[in-house]
Amino acid sequence: MEHEPIPGPAGWPLIGNLRDIDLNNTVQSFMALADEFGPIYKLRLGGTDRLFLSNHVFVDEVCTRKEYGKHIMGAVGALAQVLPDGLFSAQTAQKTWGQARRTLNPVFTPGTIRSMFPEMLDVTSQLVLKWARHGPKTPIDVSADMTRLTLDTIALTAMDTRFNSFYHDEVHPFVRSFGDMFSEMQRRSNRPAWYTALQWTANRKFEENNTFIRDFCADVLAYRRERESEEENGEQLLSNRKDVFTAMLHRRDPVTDEQLDDSVIIDNMITFLFAGHDTTSGLLSFLLFHLVRNRNAYKKLQDEIDSVIGTGALTVDHLDKLSYLKACLYETLRLDPPAQAFAVTPQVQRDDKEEGKDVKMDLESVLLLGGRYSISYGQSAIVIIPSLHRDKSVFGEDANAFRPERMTKEKMDKLPRNSFKPFGNGVRTCIGSNFALQEAMVTAAVLFQKFDFDLVDPDYQLQYQPSLNRKPNGLFVYARLRPKVD
Ligand code: HEM
Repeated sequence: MEHEPIPGPAGWPLIGNLRDIDLNNTVQSFMALADEFGPIYKLRLGGTDRLFLSNHVFVDEVCTRKEYGKHIMGAVGALAQVLPDGLFSAQTAQKTWGQARRTLNPVFTPGTIRSMFPEMLDVTSQLVLKWARHGPKTPIDVSADMTRLTLDTIALTAMDTRFNSFYHDEVHPFVRSFGDMFSEMQRRSNRPAWYTALQWTANRKFEENNTFIRDFCADVLAYRRERESEEENGEQLLSNRKDVFTAMLHRRDPVTDEQLDDSVIIDNMITFLFAGHDTTSGLLSFLLFHLVRNRNAYKKLQDEIDSVIGTGALTVDHLDKLSYLKACLYETLRLDPPAQAFAVTPQVQRDDKEEGKDVKMDLESVLLLGGRYSISYGQSAIVIIPSLHRDKSVFGEDANAFRPERMTKEKMDKLPRNSFKPFGNGVRTCIGSNFALQEAMVTAAVLFQKFDFDLVDPDYQLQYQPSLNRKPNGLFVYARLRPKVD
């Protein structure tokens, strides 16, 4: 069968398409290239041809055909070198991935997440206190404070540790070390191995950060075990807690009946800390931005909050009644998905191996995408989530506008399959999506109940931070306490 050539910019010898992308903001470059070359295009990066997909037809195909699975590549591949057993960076076929996923899935069901409501509210109250003390004339750096909030919440539930970020100007040393290490991983993923090997100073710093992070987690783990052993004859309050850390320490994998090894627990403490805060903080920051820019939606949301909660304390039962808030969150995830891309690849299926097929032959064979474009086993297909979510054939001519009404439950049920993918796909879908949505609901409900917001610069144009996850850059607001009226 004839395969059609895949569109894309012509590259240069040796460096391929490196000059076609801005290394500080790769996804914005991928989006611009999608506008130019269409819903499937090809770039040669790091010596290999990668495909980029951005409409729901191609995305549906790679999300549903059984040959495709998560591709550990790029920065995630570099992450796998230091977190080989972390849920995010482990291979799907790895025993430790299956064990950790099955052990932790029950903690992330909506019912169990509800029991974490008091901890989420506790951290939100610290944010409210800080903004109230600032008064109405102090510019608030939205992304920075949302990061403090989500970091403290996940540290509390995944590590039983209080980072107390609202009481410090500097970020916690754990986060600084991880951030430095991750930036180095991103640099490594875009350059040849021999070049990395020559970066002695950067490599030494990388090792120092890695050691610091692992030692920190090992200490937290040891301290928790010590506290549990002290209460052995008492009420055993700690081991009865329903949070991520307790599950990692005490649950058994229902298939192997084994508990997680300490190195797997440590890899996942680190994984939860980074995967569980940077994305939700982006969601909350973008939500605030879109609402201050769209006053009709802002008013509708505040009316809903006033009628459901009034001026009293938020309870977990209120959350079920805040349907417009939920639509606002989904619309924010559509326009500005914090996780901007995920990679899949055709993989040799485990069953094929078990049936004794010739694996080498499979690796050399190709599949056809959309019945026209060839993709080989092991080749990356990268889903550009923000472009997918602005597909006009799905979301209409006003796809770039913030209109929460299109993301009500009834409307979302009618969307084409796999046209909305903020949390990834299949067995590797985000384990924390319920956690993130509840945390965002709690925070947004309390903030819009207590404050009125205005942009510090009324002409502010949305800019994105140069980081792995999408976050607004330079977004400052004023927060005025609302008068308490019953
Ligand atoms: C995986 C998005 C919040 C933990 C993923 C993936 C996406 C995603 C797209 C799949 C990545 C891939 O296929 O390579 C988001 C967004 C969030 C969010 C948009 C917030 C708005 C959270 C939270 C947690 C979390 C709060 C933890 C409490 C994880 C983990 C994985 C993951 C552990 C790997 C799961 C696996 O492969 O088994 N997330 N996430 N995420 N997320 Fe999230």
